[in-house]
Amino acid sequence: MTPVQAYSTAVLALIAAGLAFRRRRQIHIPIMLLAFALDLGSVIYLQLQRHAIQKAASEPTAILMVHIAFAIASIGLYTAMTVTGTRLARRGAGRPVHRRLAAIFLFCRVGTWATSFFVG
Ligand code: HEM
Repeated sequence: MTPVQAYSTAVLALIAAGLAFRRRRQIHIPIMLLAFALDLGSVIYLQLQRHAIQKAASEPTAILMVHIAFAIASIGLYTAMTVTGTRLARRGAGRPVHRRLAAIFLFCRVGTWATSFFVG
């Protein structure tokens, strides 16, 4: 496992902890926002250090494309989780949407992690 994969695994464990505390918003919200910040950090790192976008453009293997699709969806869904979560916290509205997006987010985030082992 590379250091970036270990980091991604640790963030996934953090997300699992945030989910375990989904009914305790004082704990749930800071954990999920921290996971968002840490994942954004790794995207920025991979771009600056490994030129991920240029690599994807020059060596577009199928698994790399799937990996990038999952990764982009995950970042977009983090934003959606923050928007729907803020609405839920402030007005108690939109719980079903937050929950449904959470399932899609988790699928994409686990997908990003799993495919990272095959992109080389
Ligand atoms: C990717 C990140 C996130 C995931 C996967 C996630 C997932 C969930 C899930 C599964 C629930 C339980 C919904 C239910 O069954 O009723 C929940 C509740 C909640 N989430 Fe999130 N969430 C995330 C981020 C956030 C963020 C960033 C905020 C706020 C800015 C937030 C605010 C809340 C609130 C207020 C609740 C209700 C807690 C309660 O029951 O009192 N979430 N979240």
